[in-house]
Amino acid sequence: QYLPKEASFGKHVRWLPSCDSTNKTAMGLAGAGAPHGTLVTAWEQTGGRGRRGRAWFSPQGGLWMSLILQHPIALSRAAELTLLCSVAVRRAIRATCGASPDIKWPNDLLMGGRKICGILAEIRADGETVQHAVLGIGINSNIPATAFPPDLLAIATSLAIETDSTIHNLTLAAAILKELEPMYRDLEAGGAGFQAVAGEWRAASATLGRHIRVQTASKVLEGDAVDVDDSGVLYLRVDSGQVIPVHSGDVLFS
Ligand code: BTN
Repeated sequence: QYLPKEASFGKHVRWLPSCDSTNKTAMGLAGAGAPHGTLVTAWEQTGGRGRRGRAWFSPQGGLWMSLILQHPIALSRAAELTLLCSVAVRRAIRATCGASPDIKWPNDLLMGGRKICGILAEIRADGETVQHAVLGIGINSNIPATAFPPDLLAIATSLAIETDSTIHNLTLAAAILKELEPMYRDLEAGGAGFQAVAGEWRAASATLGRHIRVQTASKVLEGDAVDVDDSGVLYLRVDSGQVIPVHSGDVLFS
């Protein structure tokens, strides 16, 4: 699959047979001035990082990739990065694997209620500006059911399991980069960002319209997920009838 001539994403690729975390490696390379759009990918990660300090199961067969972003964006728009990424990954999966995952706020992709993709952005900010960022994408692509620890299989699955086919990781990675680059250019230019794809995000949402519990940094909130605004903030109608904004957290379905 060819990328447009002016493409930066994927022009440079650092491929590693094994590493602790592609995000960690990519943050180091970003700090050392690696070109914008450099992709770091590994066959397996021995210390894959998830959100909130969790470990990310990363055996061979999955697609573990981290994209280095060197063009600055406003810190106030950084949260849109992962939301845009979830839409880009979903489009790429639909185009290359024929599967249609749901999006769980803020940016997990699920099939049949089980997770197939997680996204972790790490940023280095200077005042109100993101100087560089690493967008880490983990896709359970070719991981057979037998490779998952049994407790994990209760909440996670893979594209290979769900589609009963072998996923071409390189094609999938290229498709993601192709979707993501114009979204990032728009964000960089101060454009509509998440707003431009919010309708698509809402239509694919496994969260909106459901009664959920959200684990935030300080507490668990419970209520009906009523909407997500154009910057990705989730609105929850709690028992008192009050609608409260949730800026970050993990959704636990009730
Ligand atoms: C989550 O908790 O849902 C986010 C998981 C992100 C995993 C990916 S795999 C590639 C990149 N390298 C890492 O160490 N983490 C991200």
